Formats: sequence, C-alpha cells, structure tokens
Amino acid sequence: MINIFELFKASFDKYLEGYLKHVYSYQPITDAYKYSISNGGKRLRPCLVYLGAYAVAPRNANYNPEELIVELAIGIELIHSYSLVHDDLPCMDNDELRRGMPTTHKKFGAGMATITGDAMLNGAAELMLSALDNEFYMACPYVKNNYVAQVNATKYILNQSGINGMIGGQCLDIKEHEKDPSKSDLIRMYKLKTSALLKAALVAGALRFEASDEIIKAFESYAENFGILFQIQDDILDLTSTKEVLGKDVNQDKNNNKFTYIDAVGGIENAQKDVLAYADAAKSAIKAIENKINGAEFFYELIDNMIARKN
Ligand code: IPE
Ligand code: IPE
Ligand code: MG
Ligand code: MG
Ligand code: MG
Repeated sequence: MINIFELFKASFDKYLEGYLKHVYSYQPITDAYKYSISNGGKRLRPCLVYLGAYAVAPRNANYNPEELIVELAIGIELIHSYSLVHDDLPCMDNDELRRGMPTTHKKFGAGMATITGDAMLNGAAELMLSALDNEFYMACPYVKNNYVAQVNATKYILNQSGINGMIGGQCLDIKEHEKDPSKSDLIRMYKLKTSALLKAALVAGALRFEASDEIIKAFESYAENFGILFQIQDDILDLTSTKEVLGKDVNQDKNNNKFTYIDAVGGIENAQKDVLAYADAAKSAIKAIENKINGAEFFYELIDNMIARKN
C-alpha cells in the first residue's frame, strides 16, 4: 500500500532542497543554516501542513495543492528546526546529538548556533510572505482570496510559534525547574511547547484553502491532543530508548533535573495509558467532522503511527 506520509515527506524534501539552493550568505552561517534543517528529522510538521491542505482542498486535476502550501511547510520546519537548535544550546538542555548528528552548537559554536536559530526564524517569515509575490499561485481559482488565505496561514504559524505558543512553552519549561510541577502544569506546558507548532502546521494547511471555522476548531483539538501524547512519548523515549535509535542522547531529562510526565503520574505504565487516552481524544475530534473532509482515515493512521513510534 502506498504510504501517504512517505509521499508527503518525499515531496517536501524535494521542495526543501530547491529552497536551500537559494540560501546564500556569509560563512559559516550559510552552512550552519543548511546543516540545521537538512540533518534528517521526521518532517512531521510539514506532513501535517500537507494533511490539512489535502483534507479541505477541492479535488481538481488541473492543479496541485502542494504548490500552494510549500512555503508554509518549509516555513514551519525552519521554525521547528530553529527551536531545536536553541533547545539544545548549553544554556538550555545542553545536548550534543540531534537527529543522529552533532548539534549545531557542537559543530559551529554556541554563538553561531544562536544566530543561526534567529536566521531560521527570520527566513521562515520571509519565505512564507514571499509566496505573495507568486502571481500564478495568487490567482489559484479554487481559493476565493489567495492573498488573505496566505496571510492568515502565515499569521497563524507566527502566532503559535511566539510567546503565546512554542516560546511560551519553553519559558514554562525553564521555569518549572524551580518547583515540582503538577500533572496539569505539565499539560499546560506541553500544549505550548509541543502542541502549538503541530497545530500551526495542520491549521495553516487548512487556512490556505479557506477551511470553515468548524473544521479549523476540530483540527485545533486534534493537534492539541496529538501534541500532548507526542511529548509524553518523547519523555518516555528519553528514558527507554537508545541514542542510536533516537538520534539524540537519552536520559537527558534526568541529567537536566527535569520533572516529566512520567514522574507526575508515577511511572511509564500510567503515562502510556494516558497516551492512549489522548489518542482517543484526538481521533474523536476528527470523527465529528469526518464527512466534511477528505482523508479522515489518514488522521487516524497518523495517530496510530505515533503511538508505535520508536524515534
Ligand atoms: C522533537 O520533535 C521536539 C519535540 C517537540 C519533542 P520531533 O521528534 O518531531 O523532531 P524531529 O524533527 O523528528 O527531529
Ligand atoms: C522541546 O522539548 C520542545 C521544543 C519546543 C524544542 P524537549 O527538550 O523535550 O525536546 P528534545 O527531547 O530535546 O527533542
Ligand atoms: Mg527542552
Ligand atoms: Mg531538549
Ligand atoms: Mg525530550
């Protein structure tokens, strides 16, 4: 059977390669910029942009929805990858391995890694707005107002990445060091540091095709629950996996004195039960609009893939 997520990933990687060919500036920041996004990664957020777009885009043989969302997909992966570059810095989680390779600061130094992250965030905004210059795609007849749709999708991504989204979550993550957080403190943090970018990806793909409020709300709920289960699993894998499989050092939460979800619920088994509960909640959000979108089955399949993930 064709795996739709592999198709999405292959398409994304092709567009990303094309984009990176045009990234050219001083050294070593140009190399550090490319290194920090070409170093593998599951490309989960770009796949969610594709999924959101295909779920609501009108089906027509005369156009390819991918071409309208490519800047959003690369933009969100740039933002996600910058968040990892900064997350790994010695002043944050102090990690040496990411996606099976030395972290950006290990290879280029902490100063260079810091400004590389800044440049990636800036690059994402530039790229997502540059789509407005493409007259051909701004005339796509299957979208009522292409300009407004592109701006709304970009605005949504930038908002979810900022202090009311991912960065806000990283702030709580740093602050939680100072106390033993409760389970609800951790969920609040996970919704921000992890769910926000997953939500941004799925919703942006749908906003580019002017999805209704009802669908956007369902996608928000799906992605929020998805993000929580994804982060709980990240915490579980940190304890149970190996660096060869995970591509990052393990036991890092313990080494950094992080109180994780596993501590809050008293063990891995309880945490795994909650992963399944969040998976059900995510699926029910889609169930409610199943007949109003294309490919609802892929939303369920993705959750099942995530429950079984090893890295
Ligand atoms: C890692 O995200 C950071 C978290 C939110 C837990 P991913 O596990 O999606 O990382 P990559 O992109 O595949 O490396
Ligand atoms: C980070 O969470 C989430 C981000 C916003 C970068 P973690 O610190 O647990 O992610 P990993 O384990 O380093 O990938
Ligand atoms: Mg962290
Ligand atoms: Mg980390
Ligand atoms: Mg982690």
